[in-house]
Amino acid sequence: MKANGTSATAEHPLDAVRLDLMRWYRLRGRHALPWRLTRDPYPVLISEVMLQQTQVDRVLPYYDAWLARWPTFAALAKATPADVIRAWAGLGYNRRALNLHRLAVEVTNTHGSELPGSIPALLQLPGIGPYTARAIACFAREERAVVADTNIARVVARLTLGQETAKGIRPGVLHGSAEALLPTTCARDHNLALMDLGALVCVARAPLCGSCPVARDCAWLAAGSPRTATPARAPAERFEHTARFARGRIVAALRHAERPLPELVEMLPARHRANATLYLAALEREGMVRQSPGGVWALPTEIRAG
Ligand code: ADE
Repeated sequence: MKANGTSATAEHPLDAVRLDLMRWYRLRGRHALPWRLTRDPYPVLISEVMLQQTQVDRVLPYYDAWLARWPTFAALAKATPADVIRAWAGLGYNRRALNLHRLAVEVTNTHGSELPGSIPALLQLPGIGPYTARAIACFAREERAVVADTNIARVVARLTLGQETAKGIRPGVLHGSAEALLPTTCARDHNLALMDLGALVCVARAPLCGSCPVARDCAWLAAGSPRTATPARAPAERFEHTARFARGRIVAALRHAERPLPELVEMLPARHRANATLYLAALEREGMVRQSPGGVWALPTEIRAG
């Protein structure tokens, strides 16, 4: 057995696939991504949270700026919620920023500024779900953990289950296949390789099967690349019509200045104005905004109790 958990003589049917994947990754992998050059759980966590709903290119400048300003959990814990919401401007899904801040406060106050070691303990922290807990275990601690983001899930669905997409595959089945493919050692490189294959070759639409290092072992290609019938979806609501849009506008306005209710109502598109107080109440419950005794709305300078 080699250091990457595979064997040149393919002792196991999956060894050849792993080996082909690792050869490709060594040549073509995105090794210079800054969060891959560290094993410090803090930057790994920051990158994973930023990358959850945002593309790599877009994340890069935010990641650098964030770490320059708050290089440790202890530094982040000293920020205010308003600081982190402002620093997150443009990344979207502001709740991710608030959760990171809450997590930093908790880790600093109760875990001696270190992330707990086990996946179950990580799952107890604010904003850490199964994917993030496994990503920290694998990418920071080099543990053998299944990490199934959308790219990895699609590669596993095609390569081992013969399905075009991972949608519709039961999570347990997908996890089982990813687990079976995971080598006994070097799971970190293996998962990063799958991630890159999904991002660069085995893309959702028009995959580049002619350039794929594991094409000869791909169950989906062998089956003639059948398209998965996707049920016709109702047309998506226009983003400008969603509550998410209106809430985003409110938070964006408060990034620059405190504002009384009439001013906030005024800057919302007409269709959202009647719901302004509902949006504000929900944002306040989430700790995203606060109302001063004078009734003026602002970003919070302290973590909301409870
Ligand atoms: N490297 C480690 N985690 C990653 C992710 N979520 N996306 C892209 N590259 C990564």
